[in-house]
Amino acid sequence: MQESTSSSRISSFYKLEHQQRLEKIAEFLGESNFSQDHFLNTGNTEFQTVDNMIENAIGTMNIPIGVATNMIIDGKDRLIPMATEESSVVAAVCNAARQCRATGGFYTHTSEHIMIGQIQLIDVINPMITKQVILENEHDIKAICNDVDPLLVKLGGGFKGLEVRVLDDGHEYNIIVHILVDTCDAMGANAVNSMVEALSPALEGWTSAKANMRILSNLADKRLSMARATWPTDEIGGEAVRDAMLSAFRFADTDPYRAATHNKGIMNGISAVILATGNDTRAIEAGAHAYACKTGQYRSLSSWGVDKDGNLCGSLELPMAVGLIGGATKVHPTAQQNLEILNIDSADELARITCAVGLAQNFAAMKALVTTGIQKGHMSLHAKNIAVMAGAKAHEVDKVTELLVQSGKVRIDVAQEILATLRHKSG
Ligand code: MEV
Repeated sequence: MQESTSSSRISSFYKLEHQQRLEKIAEFLGESNFSQDHFLNTGNTEFQTVDNMIENAIGTMNIPIGVATNMIIDGKDRLIPMATEESSVVAAVCNAARQCRATGGFYTHTSEHIMIGQIQLIDVINPMITKQVILENEHDIKAICNDVDPLLVKLGGGFKGLEVRVLDDGHEYNIIVHILVDTCDAMGANAVNSMVEALSPALEGWTSAKANMRILSNLADKRLSMARATWPTDEIGGEAVRDAMLSAFRFADTDPYRAATHNKGIMNGISAVILATGNDTRAIEAGAHAYACKTGQYRSLSSWGVDKDGNLCGSLELPMAVGLIGGATKVHPTAQQNLEILNIDSADELARITCAVGLAQNFAAMKALVTTGIQKGHMSLHAKNIAVMAGAKAHEVDKVTELLVQSGKVRIDVAQEILATLRHKSG
């Protein structure tokens, strides 16, 4: 293979046309399997849309979207689009949702939609006096913040409160100002970040401290989403399964090593809905994991127990800063279509649905882990990928997958053998 000697220093790459950008990459790589045609095909999203979304765009990457069926949330049947590359995630939600339909499915709740914007003040001469001076100016602070986004205020949102903390960072006292902002149907990062930036000069003027950092906090613990559901003991395979699941929960709640994986499973469901709706997966992930540490130890985000009849009950609570307006949600045509499938009117509804999916996912993972183990279901779904990787053509995939699962060894070498045998037989 010929080594490229090109430099990665390419000025104004973003000004080039789509094809020209791809040519630059091809030139940089020299001889390679890089396919310009592959990147020229942006599927159901126009290149122009993608190019407006990020810098130096060269194409799109398709992630499968599956629909979770069987979900009843707050008395309403829902179909839920989920974007994920992980084979078993959608099936897990469908199974969990089916098994709690008899008890009405999922019941959800949300807190207010308050986001926190932080301003870090440094070079503070007298922390307690600085804190009080800021609190005394709440009226003006509110006016400055609300001036940034009059439309939000008109919709009932905007500045809702002020908190001032004294923080010893180990080097000096900081004053940390929190503005509390109701961002209504927006995730709110743009509104809040604009507000903290607009407010900083006034804070510096009142206090003679210096505004160092001005940014929203992803620990959105004033914007919580909750979901609960009950699974009848008979439906889930009896008391032994229930008790094993309860033990699995206690393990996760006590041991951070297990909690990380347990919560990862919850986020498998949550992030898939967040991505499908063009929301910010990293913001939700960061908020969730920070919230899992709220007691000082990293623990399970979900909680499990039994009701008076001995049925298994689960609940989940976590920050859920999602929006229906702004960001990729509004501009990405597939996100818009996914919102059509969800058939919702508010960010609040999206937050509730997403939380219910997280709980369903957690139920399915725990149940699989304490019964058959995760590999059985996972591998039979994954077998299709392996069949394709082994070179099976469209008309061969189903047969290879079936034989692969039957063999109990979902491996690429086994898939290749099966494929060779099938081809040999068919002449
Ligand atoms: C895999 O993506 C997710 C699980 O590991 C979650 C869990 O262990 O609870 C199965």
